[in-house]
Amino acid sequence: MKFTTSILTLLATITTAVSAAPTSPLTGPNVSVPGTEEYTHALEKRMTGDATWYDAAAGYTACGFLVANTSFTVAVSASRYDSSAVDGNPNNNRICRRAIRISGPVRQGVVAYIRDRCAGCGYDDIDLTPTLFEHVVGPLGLGRRQITWDFV
Ligand SMILES: *[C@@H]1O[C@H](CO)[C@@H](O)[C@H](O)[C@H]1NC(C)=O
Ligand SMILES: *[C@@H]1O[C@H](CO)[C@@H](O)[C@H](O)[C@H]1NC(C)=O
Repeated sequence: MKFTTSILTLLATITTAVSAAPTSPLTGPNVSVPGTEEYTHALEKRMTGDATWYDAAAGYTACGFLVANTSFTVAVSASRYDSSAVDGNPNNNRICRRAIRISGPVRQGVVAYIRDRCAGCGYDDIDLTPTLFEHVVGPLGLGRRQITWDFV
């Protein structure tokens, strides 16, 4: 009898778990397929990393864009960028279609677009345009500050 009760409890638990399976937290039309890396990222808690800034206008970004120093764009770490590659062409990287939301000492919840790959960044670090850094983190002279961010 006790055994039967345990089985029923187990079944009830499984049923609850299945019906409570998360729906996609993403709103984009094309990014929320379970099992993809985008989906996994979206389920992650906020990332905590260092924000730095760089000369974003120096040439084509890894995503294949020309961006201005004043644009709200970021580079993500090479390790994160490379884990989203779809083929040998970095311009095709899926992460180049993603937006993130950054919270720093100056402003919180600022939306920016991933446009580049940062060779010197730790996995959860992001490299910002100078204007975006000033907007979210503070004066460029700070150089580096911890921030949090997540995928939009
Ligand atoms: C989804 O992505 C594919 C491949 O990038 C693209 O061809 C298609 O148009 C996209 N669909 C929507 C609704 O954005
Ligand atoms: C972009 O910012 C960097 C760093 O401040 C600067 O060296 C570079 O001249 C700027 N480029 C343009 C086109 O303003």
